[in-house]
Amino acid sequence: MDYPAYVRNARVRKWVAEVAELCKPDQIHWCDGSQEEYDMLCEQMVQSGTFIRLNPEKRPNSYLCRSDPSDVARVEDRTFICSISKDDAGPTNNWVNPKEMKETLTGLFDGSMRGRTMYVIPYSMGPLGSPIAHIGIELTDSPYVVVNMRIMTRMGKAVYDVLGEDGEFIPCLHSVGMPLEAGQKDVPWPSNHKHKYIVHFPEERTIWSYGSGYGGNALLGKKCFALRIASVMARAEGWLAEHMLILGVESPDGEKTYVAAAFPSACGKTNFAMLIPPKEMGDWKVTTVGDDIAWIKPGPDGKLYAINPESGYFGVAPGTSWDTNPNAMASLERNSIFTNVALTDDGDVWWEGMTEEPPAHLVDWLGQEWDPDCGRKASHPNARFTAPASQCPSIDPDWENPKGVPIKAFIFGGRRSKTVPLVYQAFNWMYGTYLAATMGSETTAAAAGAVGNVRRDPFAMLPFCGYHMGDYFNHWLQFGRRIPNPPRIFSVNWFRKDDDGKFIWPGFAQNMRVLKWVVERANGHAVGTESPLGWMPRYEDLDWNGLESFSPDQFYDLMSIDRDVWQQELLQHEELFLRLFDRLPKELTHIRELIRSSLWRSSEHWGLAPERYASTE
Ligand code: OXD
Ligand code: MN
Repeated sequence: MDYPAYVRNARVRKWVAEVAELCKPDQIHWCDGSQEEYDMLCEQMVQSGTFIRLNPEKRPNSYLCRSDPSDVARVEDRTFICSISKDDAGPTNNWVNPKEMKETLTGLFDGSMRGRTMYVIPYSMGPLGSPIAHIGIELTDSPYVVVNMRIMTRMGKAVYDVLGEDGEFIPCLHSVGMPLEAGQKDVPWPSNHKHKYIVHFPEERTIWSYGSGYGGNALLGKKCFALRIASVMARAEGWLAEHMLILGVESPDGEKTYVAAAFPSACGKTNFAMLIPPKEMGDWKVTTVGDDIAWIKPGPDGKLYAINPESGYFGVAPGTSWDTNPNAMASLERNSIFTNVALTDDGDVWWEGMTEEPPAHLVDWLGQEWDPDCGRKASHPNARFTAPASQCPSIDPDWENPKGVPIKAFIFGGRRSKTVPLVYQAFNWMYGTYLAATMGSETTAAAAGAVGNVRRDPFAMLPFCGYHMGDYFNHWLQFGRRIPNPPRIFSVNWFRKDDDGKFIWPGFAQNMRVLKWVVERANGHAVGTESPLGWMPRYEDLDWNGLESFSPDQFYDLMSIDRDVWQQELLQHEELFLRLFDRLPKELTHIRELIRSSLWRSSEHWGLAPERYASTE
């Protein structure tokens, strides 16, 4: 086999040769990550019908892609953690014996790239050469994957310099699973309708993905490496790989505080990461470091430093607008890829929620004629944009700092129409681990399956933890013990509804009011009052400038804790704990008992009524 001279790493050479022998591609393309290469592949996909070039006047250098209608989201039921022991994968992951899985996959990958090109994608998760970053190499037969990886990761030749002759990398193998027999015509979105496997071998630290071309199933740097495999590495090496956005908050007097926040998929993480504070609150500024994943390591000074391992946004398009998220809209004005959104008559894109009035005519995500009365959605609910992070107007000046940014607070938030208050602060790290471990959320379209049920999603990591969730909780507890002054931990819920089913909290930019309290608490400036769950702001502890219409009564509704409802909630926590019983840290059961008894001691319906203001910290 011919290798480019700059590929000096013996393990890379050997592995690429082995995979080529197995998958039997017609040719191998060693990606260099250049703009020319990107343009060439996009043009090739325009020619083949995979991409539609958007109107360059409206959306320069951007493309629309329509996936196969059966390949539109992550497939959690086809995602496997194949550790040697089943117990290490734990009850929340699918598991198959790694030897058996390798045999199945070897059978499927044998000849799977026939008639196609195999692309070799060298990439770094995190700024090249950062002590927090790690390298991966993805082999794929999908040019769609190559161009998306170029936006989402630091991809290109320079990675081989960092790798040197014997550097470590994560081997990631991907095939759409649709070989082309001689003369067979390709389809715009090849995928395998029968077999899909997203497989992780945590001990070997390798990833094999077969049959899907979509997002988290195929862009293997993201969920597969930066979360599932990295969580295993992080546990072994004493750091954290988390499903978290990272943002910076600058106060009017210039105090800068970084916060990392975990929300389950499609709970508005990108909106929160790019929030623009309401003007009436004064000169507050929010800057964006990342919108989905954080790698966090303790620094020599005992603080926690976080990087965003990605370099782009693979964001949910529907609901994104100049009203809800102007920074995201500006990020995707050019050099972007849109998947499963609608096409306008003037060659631009549209999705539900982008404008109040839909256009009179569109071509929908399935390629069919669409008008507002046709009764169908024009874009898929999990339609995505892939946009370079560098184009985000709120990007933090330190977003590529190889040292990372210091984290002062962690926020955990689910989508809960009832039960969970707008915001509270855990009493300490252990309580914080409990609140994160027992987080629940109503399901969304980011993963295939029923939408709207509450599922427990510990740390928003349920689909992304590469090992036993009980061990993961233990890792968090242990991690907190080792750092002298750990970040404060908060719970938020933007999604509580009133009895008429309407959201009580306006959300979006108004979330700044909660974020301000969080940051001030983390810096020791703000007041909190004690509730059965943790510290809470009183009405007067939040900044209401510009939102005076939001009444104390509405606020207390949002903050209330109903004892009976919480008894039910605690029972659901218990159900999760029972599933994890063999490796569940005892501390979590103890905290559950403490919360139960403090609920009991409080009145039936704990509200922030004035007589309860007594105990403040
Ligand atoms: C994502 C997800 O795509 O969490 O970020 O599903
Ligand atoms: Mn995510």
